[in-house]
Amino acid sequence: MAATQPSADVEGALLAHLNANGEIPDSRAFASSLGVPHKDLEDVIKRLLAFRIIESTDITTEAWVLTDEAKDYAARGCPEVHLVAAIPPEGASRAALKEELGDVFDIALKNAAKNKWIEQGNRDLVLRTVEDTKDELQELLKRVENGEDEVQEQLKRLENPKTREVVPDPIKVLKRRKLVTKEKTIWYSLKKGPEFVVKRKTLATDVTREHLKSGDWKDLEFKDYNYGAQGQPIAIGYSQPLLEVREAIQNIFLEMGFSEMPTNMFVESSFWNFDALFQPQQHPARDSHDTFFLKAPATTTQLPDDYLEKVKQVHQSGGYGSKGYGYDWKRDEAEKNLLRTHTTAVSARMLYKLAQEEHFAPKRYYSIDRVFRNEAVDRTHLAEFHQIEGLICDYGLTLGDLIGVLEDFFSRLGMPKLRFKPAYNPYTEPSMEIFSYHEGFKKWVEIGNSGMFRPEMLLPMGLPEGVNVIAWGLSLERPTMILQEIDNIRNLFGPKVDFNKIKGRPMCRVGL
Ligand code: PHE
Repeated sequence: MAATQPSADVEGALLAHLNANGEIPDSRAFASSLGVPHKDLEDVIKRLLAFRIIESTDITTEAWVLTDEAKDYAARGCPEVHLVAAIPPEGASRAALKEELGDVFDIALKNAAKNKWIEQGNRDLVLRTVEDTKDELQELLKRVENGEDEVQEQLKRLENPKTREVVPDPIKVLKRRKLVTKEKTIWYSLKKGPEFVVKRKTLATDVTREHLKSGDWKDLEFKDYNYGAQGQPIAIGYSQPLLEVREAIQNIFLEMGFSEMPTNMFVESSFWNFDALFQPQQHPARDSHDTFFLKAPATTTQLPDDYLEKVKQVHQSGGYGSKGYGYDWKRDEAEKNLLRTHTTAVSARMLYKLAQEEHFAPKRYYSIDRVFRNEAVDRTHLAEFHQIEGLICDYGLTLGDLIGVLEDFFSRLGMPKLRFKPAYNPYTEPSMEIFSYHEGFKKWVEIGNSGMFRPEMLLPMGLPEGVNVIAWGLSLERPTMILQEIDNIRNLFGPKVDFNKIKGRPMCRVGL
């Protein structure tokens, strides 16, 4: 068997053969005629194909290849041979041999015994019966490794009951010891390509100092630039799906003339989160099961006293045409700090601020930011999420205005078909749940909540009579999951987000 040839020689032999014969019908046979592993020839073939020096057709066949165990034997010899070599003329103890051979000891002992190379005495002694052994199995394994025709033929015969008998023993051993497995392999049939040459010129890739000094750059042939090459990935930002949809929604609000409310207060008082919104102090949403209350600081001291007094009145005994709730309102309850459960707390602050201005001016406000609810986490719920909120305040707004604005807003988001269902919020009357027809799911899905803020909320703030506020809220996660076909919220937000997915979304690309 010839020693492995350097790839330049393999290339030379291949090109010379093609030049003389016009074709190589079977790359495997050619590799074995050169005495090189098919893998090495394949590398050469791929290179020549890229330069269109040759052309190829795949030949898909099944062939026997070595298992990992057998590859090791092919490289380093078989364990039974190592065993015999380890036994001195006077014999050795099993324990000593086991120590010497390690993991393969049992296999080695079994096969050496089968080959009658050893004798095992009654005690612990192992004697060898041969002077030395030739590693014929190793030779055979190498022939399999090189894809030699004859061995492949024999292995094939072994599969057929009619021809099995004539197969020589060593081949049978290969299968019995599970040293070979069948694998789909691709060989090639080769012919000359349009750029065929017998000897490939090495093309220069750079002009070096030596080229300039000797002047031979004038005669050099340069390798073409590969303008299609991908290049190194560059370190740039990636867009998180939530942020992408957030930006789209933000743009819709801006196009519709809304301005953003400051939402940089995750910690809020119960007063702004609930009381200002005419939410009674016994309301179940105020329960610690639904709301995260703060331990430190547990309460706030900064509440507007005048306004607070009015809120207390409206809860206890009503006013502005309302009967109120008729319970004993407690400042302690209003002072409790919490993680805001909705951004409507921010809307309340903004409307109060607006009411303090000397002259009322109509406003359109929006916000998109984080809110917190003490919820059991599942595939559609997290304990924190983002809320989108929009409101318009002006004289004489009606439910018709609300429906019209919602239809405009959601159709810009790609949800033109809406339906509304009467609902209840302590701070809006009337209130409507918003449903949109999902073309993909072929059903109506709930997408938000809306309503007209109650006079019990607006009038204590000091907004002029006749001013109405239409408002709506929705989560950012839900439309994002629908738009981007993500079915588990934990893949969208939080520590389980798959970073590789995000890395597939570069923020911007420089186009050509
Ligand atoms: N705050 C409401 C919620 O948490 C949403 C909403 C906002 C409803 C404004 C009506 C008006 O779902």
